[in-house]
Amino acid sequence: MNHPPSSFLETLRARLPLVTVISQRVRLTRRGREYTGLCPFHSEKTPSFTVSEEKGFFYCFGCGAHGDVISFVMQADGLSFSDAVKQLSQAAGLSSRSTFYETHNNRIKIHHSCLLDVMEMATRFYERQLQLPNGRSGLEYLHKRGLNDEIIAAFRLGFAPPGNAGSTTLKREGINENLLIEGGLLIPPNKGGSPYDTFRDRVIFPITDIRGRVIAFGGRTLGTAQPKYINSVATPLFRKGEVLYGLAQARDPVREKGTVIVTEGYMDVIALAGAGFSHAVAQLGTALTAGQLAALWRLAPEPILCFDGDTAGRLARARTAQRILSLLKPGLSVRLALLPEEKDPDTLIRTEGASAMAGVLSRATPLFEEVWQTLLKDHPLDTPEQLAALEQAINSLTSKIVNLTVRQYYYRLLHERRRALLRRMARGLGQYKKHVTLSGSEPQMKAMANRVFTAFLLTHPQVLMCHIEQVAELLAGNTALAHLIEIAATVLAERPDIDGASLVSILKRDCHESAIKWLERDLDSALQRQGQDPEGDYQRMLLALHDQALTREIELMQTMLTTDPSPEIWQRLQLLQQERYQLHVERKEFAHYEEVKYN
Ligand code: GTP
Ligand code: MN
Repeated sequence: MNHPPSSFLETLRARLPLVTVISQRVRLTRRGREYTGLCPFHSEKTPSFTVSEEKGFFYCFGCGAHGDVISFVMQADGLSFSDAVKQLSQAAGLSSRSTFYETHNNRIKIHHSCLLDVMEMATRFYERQLQLPNGRSGLEYLHKRGLNDEIIAAFRLGFAPPGNAGSTTLKREGINENLLIEGGLLIPPNKGGSPYDTFRDRVIFPITDIRGRVIAFGGRTLGTAQPKYINSVATPLFRKGEVLYGLAQARDPVREKGTVIVTEGYMDVIALAGAGFSHAVAQLGTALTAGQLAALWRLAPEPILCFDGDTAGRLARARTAQRILSLLKPGLSVRLALLPEEKDPDTLIRTEGASAMAGVLSRATPLFEEVWQTLLKDHPLDTPEQLAALEQAINSLTSKIVNLTVRQYYYRLLHERRRALLRRMARGLGQYKKHVTLSGSEPQMKAMANRVFTAFLLTHPQVLMCHIEQVAELLAGNTALAHLIEIAATVLAERPDIDGASLVSILKRDCHESAIKWLERDLDSALQRQGQDPEGDYQRMLLALHDQALTREIELMQTMLTTDPSPEIWQRLQLLQQERYQLHVERKEFAHYEEVKYN
């Protein structure tokens, strides 16, 4: 907070004795050097509120309230610091319209606009350098990374030459050295000597506020020098936890698209913009802060957070999901996207194109789903004790949500899912993920996941929803089927109670004809054959698929054995046969269980 100069406050205090102000609200009686009375901040029968004019302080021995004349007015009238000062200056007869305090505020404003001018001049200097022979290495570097001149201009990228050229030029243009230091452009040396430029021999990324005014810079080395990036230090203009890179350029596209992409780096924002995703910003090397999230929510209700496809990215994703819980508000959440292994948005776009990025964005998980998946991942569910642990985990997790309405819904929906799991287990089906082990014959099994299976899932949306993870894994090799399932999942996310017939008609309406046409007959017959126990049907289908896959691989091994009678193949065959035997036992048990149930 910008406090008025203390000399002004001293004048104010001198003109308005504490006792005078307080005795307007509290009946004070003198006791030696001090005054006492009934505390106005809590209810009491014997006075424990004391005022010392000498020290300029009040203190309540009952409730601990204390402070000077300004905090008394703030607390008694519920005013902000500056309003309390204004009220007191009026009472003291200090000029009411233009108090010292306002003048001081103006001074800060003027100072800010000076700093902004300095940053603007620096930006122009860096931009100019990039086009001069001096900055050729910088321009070549940016071109090599795939940036064209249009995007370079849109993000006002620049080049800081080696040495102190930047500050020298700005000083020549009349900027005082202190302003350069305050703006973070110049580093004061710690032991004598002369100050030196913050950014030397780096490409420059101006960081702006939401109105596009430059408030700081990031600079990247052209080579391998460390650190790779340097950012401006915190300055009166640049409060680190609150700024998002690229926000000014992204603002209108975000409004248009209704969503905003949040990445980790400068280059990601620029590459995304170049590929048509102009609604992207970056979080500047820190974990997403509450301030940044608030800024994002002012623009769009569900920002999509992208995490790099490495260990650090996955860790950051889990941590961020946890942290955001406490900040959730009705209608405001996030989605979490994960990039492929070893990719960030920039490298994904360069190597696999914009469509790969679009795929990543469309697969972004709503925070709620992420939370549920994480709970399942962290909790084995084979024993009553483990189930109890899941219940507790849900309770402690939802208690982190500060907003009560949001907390209620998380609580309710998570427990509903837990109970659904419990019902399946009680019916003897075991935990769905573990019921069928996708062991040795997994690849074949994926190949077998066929049209009938897909048609069954699309006509039994609730089954699909329960097993979406496993289904996605099984169909991963088949783009056409995976695509249909993905679309169905997005419909389901909005209408979890939808029935099979409605889902199919939505798909027929929304999907490209070729995507659904070839499945039409399977869909129709699956709709006609809706059974009593879709969950059981699903498990049976999985077992059958597994069986087929095993059989196919066993046949393959037998053929191979005729040309290559090696012990490895022999052993593999033995294993597969064993596995199929067990599977048959399991299928029989399952069939028996079904009989019992229906008789
Ligand atoms: P490129 O190598 O240019 O593609 O950078 P990147 O954005 O892919 O880098 P990375 O994923 O390593 O870092 C993401 C963001 O973290 C960067 O855009 C910077 O804001 C910040 N960052 C990265 N390295 C450093 C560093 O050495 N120092 C500081 N202060 N920030 C860094
Ligand atoms: Mn990168």
